[in-house]
Amino acid sequence: MLVDQFGRQHTYLRISLTDNCNLRCFYCMPEEDYSFAPRAQLMQPAEIDFLARRFVDLGVNKIRLTGGEPFVRKDADLIMAGLAQLPVELACTTNGIRIDDLLPEIRACNFSSMNVSLDTLQRDKFLQITRRDLFDRVYNNIDLLLHEGIPCKINVVVMKGLNDDELVDFMALTKDQPIEVRFIEFMPFSGNKWTSNQVLTHAEILDSLGIDPELHLMPGSPHDTAKRYKIPGYQGNIAVISSMSEPFCSGCNRIRLTADGKLKNCLFSDSEVDLLTPLRSGEDPIPLIKAHIYKKKAKLGGQMTQDFNELEAEKLSNRSMIRIGG
Ligand code: 5AD
Ligand code: SF4
Repeated sequence: MLVDQFGRQHTYLRISLTDNCNLRCFYCMPEEDYSFAPRAQLMQPAEIDFLARRFVDLGVNKIRLTGGEPFVRKDADLIMAGLAQLPVELACTTNGIRIDDLLPEIRACNFSSMNVSLDTLQRDKFLQITRRDLFDRVYNNIDLLLHEGIPCKINVVVMKGLNDDELVDFMALTKDQPIEVRFIEFMPFSGNKWTSNQVLTHAEILDSLGIDPELHLMPGSPHDTAKRYKIPGYQGNIAVISSMSEPFCSGCNRIRLTADGKLKNCLFSDSEVDLLTPLRSGEDPIPLIKAHIYKKKAKLGGQMTQDFNELEAEKLSNRSMIRIGG
């Protein structure tokens, strides 16, 4: 079991397959001349398989593939087919661009959910955010998932002045389709120029949608990061991830493995432990894993302890989002 000093048990592993991406979202990529990790530094399929099995031995029962964009990796199909054999719930977070290319492989993996990141429903704004003119591709691929009956969620990072005028349009998607739209409060990561006045909070999001928590909140579980809301008569539902205004660290069961084989015990931790180098020299990674999880801080990686409005984002020490994987 992977238990930390506060007794939290960790059963959900997020594995980043690559720090590369086929989009260039301005809040995710640190700068234009960002260089991706060279191939030799990335975990190879057999290494991912080996480590994933060790984590399963240690009690992990859910694995999510992340990136960068997981499906830009040429051997993503091989890796996910291997992980699909393990006794875990398998999920994936993707920008949706390559879902059509990989549909048979995706179908075969029985993902419990595909979370597609999409921050706007407007083609020109999509180009502005991602620096790529690929809105239709993503939108059609969401349709494809729904048509295939593959459970699908849309992740929307909400930023004041950017897409806060579109929340109602996103909610409308959930009326006649069995889809969950998840609004995520904008979080600070290295190089993403976060400022607190860009954050639209959970309460503000509900307010602008006319959602009443008393009436519409769905039952949740202690490990949920999202609060879910159901509008009567809607097939799908809304969710809000309130990482900034109401962090949910006390029930956290998540750990992360970066594409270069480092274990992070928290999205906001400033420390990580290298598992890949010891693995390549024949060392057993299990004691390293256990010790690192044990040290996990109570809240937000021990950083951001103050109200988010007081936060000085440039003082945080972390990776950029593209190198963590979310
Ligand atoms: N704040 C909130 N969410 C973010 N994501 C990427 N960067 C940020 C940020 N700064 C989202 C992605 C993806 C998920 C893994 O995290 O859009 O949907
Ligand atoms: Fe790529 Fe996702 Fe980062 Fe956008 S947010 S650049 S899609 S990894």
